[in-house]
Amino acid sequence: MVNYKDLGLVNTRDMFAKAVKGGYAIPAFNFNNMEQMQAIIQASVETSSPVILQVSKGARNYANQTLLRYMAQGAVEYAKELGCEKPQIVLHLDHGDTFETCKSCVDFGFSSVMIDGSSLSFDENVAVTKKVVEYAHKFDVTVEGELGVLAGVEDDVVAEEHTYTRPEEVEEFVRRTGCDSLAISIGTSHGANKFKPEQCTRNAEGMLVPPPLEFSVLEACEKNLPGFPIVLHGSSSVPQEEIATINKYGGAMKDAIGIPEDQLRRAAKSAVCKINIDSDSRLAMTAAIREVFALKPAEFDPRKYLGPARENAKKLYKHKILDVLGSANKL
Ligand code: 13P
Repeated sequence: MVNYKDLGLVNTRDMFAKAVKGGYAIPAFNFNNMEQMQAIIQASVETSSPVILQVSKGARNYANQTLLRYMAQGAVEYAKELGCEKPQIVLHLDHGDTFETCKSCVDFGFSSVMIDGSSLSFDENVAVTKKVVEYAHKFDVTVEGELGVLAGVEDDVVAEEHTYTRPEEVEEFVRRTGCDSLAISIGTSHGANKFKPEQCTRNAEGMLVPPPLEFSVLEACEKNLPGFPIVLHGSSSVPQEEIATINKYGGAMKDAIGIPEDQLRRAAKSAVCKINIDSDSRLAMTAAIREVFALKPAEFDPRKYLGPARENAKKLYKHKILDVLGSANKL
């Protein structure tokens, strides 16, 4: 049993309370490897932003849970070495699928876990979320629940269609489970192809324009849960310049489209206090790597392509913090 406090990590409670009050959102960036972790920490230190390092089931399978835990512990020391006296870093389990997965993360040094019971019936979702909360709170670990279903693909989480959160259910869910934050579905989705072309319109240049987020659902949830921390998953904006670079250098990403950043800015000003971004980092890294491979085909030192990938991811993280989520200078 390892408690996150001994690793220098923090839970989300104070961080979210401040973010809701201050009208900004904390970035929750997924990581699977050292380069992403370094880029996230450099970006958050250089902008003085709190940050959530997020680990999915896929990441645990890919990188090994023990290594990821030590990397998060290393991230705290790395942030200090970069000049941040008191870093606020959360190690969060993304889309925990069972009580056992969540328990193993709590026991292993995570400071926050998500239990995703969104595919279950309301009562089953309440039951499993409550069980996770009761266990996690013994160790002061915070818990994110979810109501409503997001469309898209993220590692093992797949759904064809989205189902908006029903605002009339949120108060009862939070009261019965005791969860600390709630992920809701208002039209965001996982992955780099968030909408089918037939769901979109086209602008004068022929570019796809996605349907707007359902802000009325968010507003109704806020009304029923005043001041309660709300989470948005599936919030990559799928930068078209990265898609263009990928496709220019041999990629084949067709009709890739994300959530426009002005809508995320609007959400961040509300009770939305955690915004999940994974795909954008994958795109930034892939674009940089493809460019190196195309322009320097004789290159074979991984540092020569992973280095530019890390730089491009860092640029993206800083942009999100400074220009979209508003979490800069909130340490
Ligand atoms: P994106 O695929 O939009 O980056 O969403 C990531 C996410 O929600 C992780 O839980």
